[in-house]
Amino acid sequence: MRILAIETSCDETALAVVSFVDGKFVVEEQVLHSQVKTHATYGGVVPEVAARMHVETILPLLESLGISKDGEGIDAIAVTAGPGLVVALRVGVECAKTLAAVWSKPLVAVNHLEGHLASAWLSDTEPEFPVLSLLVSGGHTELLLMRDFGSYELLGSTRDDAAGEAFDKVAKLLGLPYPGGPEISQRALEGRRDAIRLPRPMLAEPHLDFSFSGLKTAVLREVESQKSKVRDLEGSFVNDMAASFEEAVVETLVTKTVRAVEQVSPKTVTLVGGVSANTHLRERLMEACAEAGVACVIPERKYSTDNAVMIAVAGLKKYERRECVDPLTLEADPHLHL
Ligand code: KG4
Ligand code: ZN
Repeated sequence: MRILAIETSCDETALAVVSFVDGKFVVEEQVLHSQVKTHATYGGVVPEVAARMHVETILPLLESLGISKDGEGIDAIAVTAGPGLVVALRVGVECAKTLAAVWSKPLVAVNHLEGHLASAWLSDTEPEFPVLSLLVSGGHTELLLMRDFGSYELLGSTRDDAAGEAFDKVAKLLGLPYPGGPEISQRALEGRRDAIRLPRPMLAEPHLDFSFSGLKTAVLREVESQKSKVRDLEGSFVNDMAASFEEAVVETLVTKTVRAVEQVSPKTVTLVGGVSANTHLRERLMEACAEAGVACVIPERKYSTDNAVMIAVAGLKKYERRECVDPLTLEADPHLHL
């Protein structure tokens, strides 16, 4: 079984051809064009700019894949239908609908979050169900229980900002470029994690929800107080703040995940989504899972941030269940739920 997957939910145009052979996912081809440098000049993703760049890039990327003009060898097409930026999603969805109609291939609509969850199956170790997944991205922070592909129970989520959003906003406060996550984790390497006292929101509460906007406000207060003393933020302050902030986020995420492990006794914990590229988070969650006696599977960093391979994996699983959609009626849905 071989699938072509298309992902354009935000600022990456990504396509991949993945097959499922002898119970294993084989990545045959993948191409990705990141728009991050363009959006960095605006300090964040501009939806209309993202959509225009997807339009310019998608067909050359498709042609570079070496698929024959009639789509021979491809069994189905998978596309991210949401959630995401509607104008960006539409580019991928319209491209997939057209290919499905012209090639007469089945079309599978994939939820972007289901793609992130599926990315854990790209690791050498296959996660065993039930799986507890910590999904941390620019738009979502969720703890989910996965009993199988297609069976998801939401255990907790953020009540305000997502973890990635908090990284991006705090980076901006510190004068660091977009996207903030990689910048903060880089600066944190040079800083002291206990230098600045920051809150651990909702950590003492027994539920599995998160809140990161208070943490961002606490950083803002510290930055303003520092700016009243010095005109420009010093490098050492930025490093210490990056380290202290990263520590606060990681401690909160890991503690709540361990609490969820105690409540639902999963066989495997997975860490997925863009923020899972964070080295400190990866190491701390691995250690905590080892202590709790539960397996922990984290995909390679290239599958943490948005890509089409994860959409292909989720798409192959949906196609296996014959969950196909009509190419004439599929619409991008920016608020799609799992
Ligand atoms: O999953 P993703 O690529 O896109 C969404 O679906 O949102 O996640 C993007 C988010 C951004 O907020 C970015 O700052 C964050 O992932 N991120 C990181 C790191 N790399 C990317 N956050 C913390 N540490 C990182 N190393
Ligand atoms: Zn994503």
